[in-house]
Amino acid sequence: MRRLDQLLASLGYCSRREARDFLKKHAVTLRGQPVRDPSAKTAPADVLVDGEPLDHPDGLLLLMNKPLGLVCSHDEREGPRIYDLLPERWRARNPQVTSIGRLDKDTSGLILLTDQTELVHKYTSPKHKVPKLYRATTDRDLPSDLVPLFAAGTLVLDGETAPCAPATLRLFPADPRTAELTLIEGKYHQVRRMFAATGATVLTLERVQFGRFTLGDLAPGQFRHALAEEI
Ligand code: URA
Repeated sequence: MRRLDQLLASLGYCSRREARDFLKKHAVTLRGQPVRDPSAKTAPADVLVDGEPLDHPDGLLLLMNKPLGLVCSHDEREGPRIYDLLPERWRARNPQVTSIGRLDKDTSGLILLTDQTELVHKYTSPKHKVPKLYRATTDRDLPSDLVPLFAAGTLVLDGETAPCAPATLRLFPADPRTAELTLIEGKYHQVRRMFAATGATVLTLERVQFGRFTLGDLAPGQFRHALAEEI
């Protein structure tokens, strides 16, 4: 059981200070009874706000197709943010909705967002080796010997001492400037730096898979809730 004002504040309906006012302005019920007392103790499932159950009281896990040009930082000085695409109430949640790992401003594709800190850990911990699949296009034809080079686990990136973990590269003979690369780690700008180490520049980069989650037909800027069977 939690205090109603805490519950409403954590789910982004209002701040704790605004809760009394919120309860005056909205029809909030606890097990069907109107409530005006912000300190009332309740289970989330017993609350209705204007006739509606609470908005995902057990937490959010979202899949977003990140458009190019948006940053995964919360700092608005860094430019337009992926968070600006979310409904205001989700942006006001506490714990805050945050991305699970990051994509560069110039990378598009699948990014997971959650307000559940244990999920951030679960999917980003190196221990879990969650595979991430990227599709890249490059400024030059990619030779087939990059496949064993990336698979060997010996490639050391500029400025690093430890080599990259073995990575799976798929090339497309009919389209020699396109590749799919699967990584089980996430060093800074890793895909771009791996190709740069071989002399190729990545021109476009999109993430299409993250663990069991796939981008599917989500359009850029769209998001959806994760399904139970994907988690
Ligand atoms: N590798 C990169 O270079 N950029 C990303 O956004 C993700 C992986």
